[in-house]
Amino acid sequence: MEVRVKTPGEIELMRKAGKILAQVHEGLAKEIRPGISTQKIDQIGEEMIRSFGGEPSFLGYCGYPASVCVSVNEEVVHGIPSPNRILKEGDIVGLDIGVIYQGYHSDAARTHGVGQIKKEARLLIERTRQSFFEGMKYATAGAHLHQISKAIGAYAMKFGYGVVRDLCGHGVGADLHEEPEIPNYKCFTRGIKLRQGMTLAVEPMINTGTWEVVWMDDGWTVVTADLSLSAHYENTIVITENKPEILTLTDSEIAEWGYV
Ligand code: MF3
Ligand code: CO
Repeated sequence: MEVRVKTPGEIELMRKAGKILAQVHEGLAKEIRPGISTQKIDQIGEEMIRSFGGEPSFLGYCGYPASVCVSVNEEVVHGIPSPNRILKEGDIVGLDIGVIYQGYHSDAARTHGVGQIKKEARLLIERTRQSFFEGMKYATAGAHLHQISKAIGAYAMKFGYGVVRDLCGHGVGADLHEEPEIPNYKCFTRGIKLRQGMTLAVEPMINTGTWEVVWMDDGWTVVTADLSLSAHYENTIVITENKPEILTLTDSEIAEWGYV
């Protein structure tokens, strides 16, 4: 098991990849409304990535056919955009996007409500995001990786949510998926010691019902086993001696969360 620490030059490229991705998420959020197809979201997302000088990481990755994973309601992750899947009022939609800039990847996901959504859905989205930030309290040099995992899972489980176990966060850098694997639940080991310059994609996937998931016949789409709602929130981060640097936040998100 080898987790490579990035050089300042590599981190600078990832910073740029992260900034592009933050802008894409910000732009796409404004497109989410009843009546838009999930394919249109992918098309606009790909155009934005390229117009900002990046390339989509996911397009063609292991055969994945799009640039944006669009996952609606009970879909947890890896939904495939389709012209026939039209968003409607009350849906929630997860957008997971990867950007490559000069050979380095950023990876981030957001979940949005479509029009007015039920309180249950709003709370799930907010708490999934907060579970990520609970994990960030332990994302510092000298801490151990699974402290992040435990903090995310403990926060989500307080609300009775199911924490997805079959998919995890991951290291990220020159490859989209690098070591280590980052579970979102308490582990029986403490995990690797975090060091300055490690770059990680931390991504809680949280369900209102069971933690169990199933794969659809398309080979990609993951759905909750009980068809309960699922939300996803992800950022690419750099471990430092203090608070982590979160590369995939917009300036206004940084202001809101107090991260620099
Ligand atoms: N963002 C996903 C992850 O975090 C990757 C999507 S896989 C792809 O692991 F094939 F759709 F690209
Ligand atoms: Co990821």
